[in-house]
Amino acid sequence: MTARHTTTPADQVDPAGFRGAMASFATGVTVVTVRSADGDLHGMTVNSFSSVSLDPTLVMVCLAESSRGLELIEDAGVFSVNVLSHSQESVSRWFADRHRPADSTMFTGVAIELGATGCPTLREAAAAFDCRVHRLVAAGDHVIVIGEVVSLTHRTELEPLVFHAGGYRSLSAPASAGRALLHVVRGE
Ligand SMILES: Cc1cc2nc3c(=O)[nH]c(=O)nc-3n(C[C@H](O)[C@H](O)[C@H](O)COP(=O)(O)O)c2cc1C
Repeated sequence: MTARHTTTPADQVDPAGFRGAMASFATGVTVVTVRSADGDLHGMTVNSFSSVSLDPTLVMVCLAESSRGLELIEDAGVFSVNVLSHSQESVSRWFADRHRPADSTMFTGVAIELGATGCPTLREAAAAFDCRVHRLVAAGDHVIVIGEVVSLTHRTELEPLVFHAGGYRSLSAPASAGRALLHVVRGE
């Protein structure tokens, strides 16, 4: 069978073609959180997460210039990256929903605790990287946010949620298709 492919010169690549090719890259899914100076909590779904350096320990996310999360992180100078576990598809959808509440009530029903930086970390996440902002790098319509990890949580028994070709996947079983309930009340 002949493999099907297209090759497009850079000056003819459109957003849909770019997104389509990027969709072949499977990622995990994170929720990036921040606690602002006035105590308000914010979270947004992000899959542009990567490790950067071991010494010092640096990670990065790329956030849209227009995102509220970026504005809050720039002000606070701290953020937390929470790697979602396989049962958290509904959490991913929620923190990507632009109609969710703009204030801390967006965390209602999500089990959290405040990490070393004061940012919320999700108790059911597979891992959490609590970070101090190391550097912000403007890049097109996004900003690369590089963070120095000040605290790390790893729940080794939890499998990650996987995002591929615009859909959610689990390593061992089909993802829960949005049926998972957020069952723990914040503030415990
Ligand atoms: C799977 C997935 C991955 C996403 N990854 C990113 C990302 O890497 N960077 C980004 O800026 N937005 C990303 N988004 C979109 C944001 O979650 C969405 O725009 C959110 O509403 C932004 O919230 P805010 O503007 O209130 O901070 C992603 C959404 C989904 C569903």
